[in-house]
Amino acid sequence: MSETWWRGAAIYQVYLRSFADGNGDGVGDLAGLRARLPYLSDLGVDAIWLNPWYPSPMADGGYDVADYRDIEPSFGTLAEAEKFIEEAHELGIRVIIDVVPNHSSDQSAWFREALAAGPGSAARERFWFKDEPNDWKSIFGGPAWTQVPDGQWYLHLFAPEQPDFNWTNPEVHREFHDVLRFWFDRGIDGIRIDSAAVLVKDFDGGDPDGYTDLAEVHDVYRSWRRLSDEYDERLLIGEVWFPDQERFARYLRSDELHTAFNFDFLGSPWSPAALRESIRQTLATHGRLGAPATWVLSNHDVARPVTRYGRADTSWDNGDRRDGAPSDLELGHRRARAAALLAMALPGSVYVYQGEELGLPEVEDIPDELRQDPMWRRSGHTVAGRDGCRVPLPWSGQEAPFGFGTGTSWLPQPEAWKKVTVEAQGADLGSMLNLYRAALRIRREELGDGTLTWLDAGDDVLAFTRETGLTCVVNLGPGPVALPPHDAVLLASGPLDAGELPSDTAVWLRTS
Ligand code: GLC
Repeated sequence: MSETWWRGAAIYQVYLRSFADGNGDGVGDLAGLRARLPYLSDLGVDAIWLNPWYPSPMADGGYDVADYRDIEPSFGTLAEAEKFIEEAHELGIRVIIDVVPNHSSDQSAWFREALAAGPGSAARERFWFKDEPNDWKSIFGGPAWTQVPDGQWYLHLFAPEQPDFNWTNPEVHREFHDVLRFWFDRGIDGIRIDSAAVLVKDFDGGDPDGYTDLAEVHDVYRSWRRLSDEYDERLLIGEVWFPDQERFARYLRSDELHTAFNFDFLGSPWSPAALRESIRQTLATHGRLGAPATWVLSNHDVARPVTRYGRADTSWDNGDRRDGAPSDLELGHRRARAAALLAMALPGSVYVYQGEELGLPEVEDIPDELRQDPMWRRSGHTVAGRDGCRVPLPWSGQEAPFGFGTGTSWLPQPEAWKKVTVEAQGADLGSMLNLYRAALRIRREELGDGTLTWLDAGDDVLAFTRETGLTCVVNLGPGPVALPPHDAVLLASGPLDAGELPSDTAVWLRTS
């Protein structure tokens, strides 16, 4: 691949504790992942992004990092991680890891030192300790401040177990430079930057949100970019949630991040006008900056597409998660198949969150006492949260844990998942898994980075042609539509109807 391999890459997101369990303790781990690398290679992905794999008390699924330079013991060891990087590289798969710069765990050495050192100490200056809290709210619900025994309060934009770093302190900058080097030196190909827009705080502006997208945050990424440029082909991808495309685009300036997740596309309703507009805007904004677009349908924080697209309101938004809203899963499944062909045909890179390729639905009936997401607790049990998209993968067999491991699984899997295991789907030519495999294969040959030409196929239809002559047509209207002239049908998300494209179906055509 070229120097900028990420411009057209298909990147598979591994939520390690739910991917595959190699030691039978009910939690996914590096041994499980290493054993399943051939699966990812066959699927046809170019890179893997792993959620945080560091030692962590797991107050927020590993986003509470206790040590940025080691591996969580229930996941494995640093030596195993190095082995994994090597094995992935041997298969031609690059490795991206998550770095969490906004906050650490309250069990990190720095935070424990800060607590012990007391008010006014240099150790407290690495975090935000104040004598009086302000009125900021935690993103997970409740106040954003927690009091410690000596009377001071510390800031945590997320859970109390996740104290925020003070990014006005040069020591924090130096620490993260060192962490980036630590992993780049071990062969990591890219860094996914958690909560990238909220690092810098302004307590004096009187703004109820004095932390989103402050100007100085860009200085952080300029310095990270200078650092990553010292290495070959290392990607910086930001988790930046903004409805405002112009503000979003500032993170993609040529001396900042290479890419950022396209949450606008993810949150778009299943509507031709909304999706067309999202795609147009994305391509226009990114095109102006020369940055590659990303296409994202799901991740470990959002309801799974099969469930989202089967609801009456198919849009999705962090502020209104629609947890538990009724869903027609058959309809959702059909649309999710079509959405996959749409996302994979668009110019840029594409992300596939584990289980998306199996068409897993959101698991909405996890017993309350088993829920682990801090969102559930912090919202006073009003927001179900994100456990439903984090249920361990079904690999094989008729009974839980469906080949995930040999013991149990840290979240229960639905019994119905025996029909959607990798094993069951592998044997079914019409399965979601085989659709993803076929699409990724074609995509690798002739899609990815580049441009598109829109075709006019009516208001209900998205249709465009790529440079190679591959045409993607998605019918989002209520009835079937005629296909544009073509030489061959390469792939369809569902059966065609006497040569017509049924509702909620996508097709890839060869045109000359
Ligand atoms: C990001 C992560 C999410 C985590 C939060 C706090 O949004 O994707 O899972 O809870 O940051 O680190």
